Amino acid sequence: MKLFSRITTTDRTPIFFGNDTFSSIDRLVYNMRPSDIFILVDPNTREHCLPHLIEKTRCLENARVIETGEGESSKTLANAEKLWNELIASGANRSSLMINLGGGVVSDLGGFVAAGYQRGISYINIPTSLVGQADASIGGKTAVNLGNIKNQVGFFYPARAVFIMPLFLKTLPEKHLRSGLAEIIKTALISDANLWRKILRNPVRRLLQKPVESRFWFDLIAGTVKYKNKVVVQDYRECKLRKVLNFGHTVGHALEAFSHIRPGNLLLHGEAVAAGMICASYLSHLKAGLAVEELDAIKTYLAKGFPVIPVEISSIPAVMQLMMHDKKEHKGELQFTLISKPGHPLMNVSCENREILEAIEFYNSLSGNNYPANQ
Ligand SMILES: NC(=O)c1ccc[n+]([C@@H]2O[C@H](COP(=O)([O-])OP(=O)(O)OC[C@H]3O[C@@H](n4cnc5c(N)ncnc54)[C@H](O)[C@@H]3O)[C@@H](O)[C@H]2O)c1
Repeated sequence: MKLFSRITTTDRTPIFFGNDTFSSIDRLVYNMRPSDIFILVDPNTREHCLPHLIEKTRCLENARVIETGEGESSKTLANAEKLWNELIASGANRSSLMINLGGGVVSDLGGFVAAGYQRGISYINIPTSLVGQADASIGGKTAVNLGNIKNQVGFFYPARAVFIMPLFLKTLPEKHLRSGLAEIIKTALISDANLWRKILRNPVRRLLQKPVESRFWFDLIAGTVKYKNKVVVQDYRECKLRKVLNFGHTVGHALEAFSHIRPGNLLLHGEAVAAGMICASYLSHLKAGLAVEELDAIKTYLAKGFPVIPVEISSIPAVMQLMMHDKKEHKGELQFTLISKPGHPLMNVSCENREILEAIEFYNSLSGNNYPANQ
């Protein structure tokens, strides 16, 4: 199937969507006339995605490849510094172009490096994971983690273009496909009750069995991208509307960061967001009138499709502390994006600590659920 579309934007970043957008990369790069091109990869995208990209894209024949480590632990200031030094050693200048070929870690880190190098060089995102394609590559948020705090240092710095090619997902391990699905579910819950019902009819395992190049995935990814883009165009700097995208991320980011402090149960981004959405849905029931039947449907679907890793009582203070460090805190109170029903978000809802604790207890009570046997 050949699908192609350009999702028009009113900001500076055109988003190209489809499996055959290589000629558009050539055209764009030709018009930009960069002095040199650097492709940032991680070991997996070097092996699985880079050969195809180079083969199909004439303008990248002489590009230099720079590599960073794989996974969340690579999103550090130390790694950014290493990459800056590599750029200096290779003679990169303000007309150099950076191409981020990878998942959300590569685009967050690569965008950060591009934003900082000589006060900013151009970069293009070619996302290769589902989190990257449905979410991370869009919207110009770049960041690295600092200490244990996610995305603590970063810039709003838009890509020159984003090229989303679902064909790259063919080599993505299933657990990472599942992780990306969480961001798509988030979008459905905050923006589109019909999409949520459609997802609800398909257990996670069934969704993951659909070929990544099928119309089904194309529609899911394109719909999610269009929604995020619409939000970003209206509120690039997250002053108001963009906060809607934080549904599930307040608790999610804290659990993701905490899982890196206590190795053993490392949570992928989407797995943590799924846990966060269960907590946010509980709070939505408590504070925003989400019907108990809706809460039930959300928690059952997510608990069957994603791992439920209980937060030990002894860990709760540290997790709360991480939440307070996150940007969703206002005057000492945590602010949540909640839903009154699927497709109806509410932003800036203050929640007291005891309510958040209740939500975490609710999440904990789901452990020992059916994941992954009966998804
Ligand atoms: N900037 C934003 O707006 C935004 C939004 C959402 C998430 N994020 C960030 O994104 C990160 C998570 O992204 P992620 O889940 O893509 O992580 P990731 O970049 O670590 O990719 C996940 C894994 O998949 C591998 N991989 C990627 N593409 C592949 C392919 N085509 N074939 C085989 N392996 C492949 C990677 O090497 C890695 O092991 C988090 O740091 C999160 O904070 C940022």
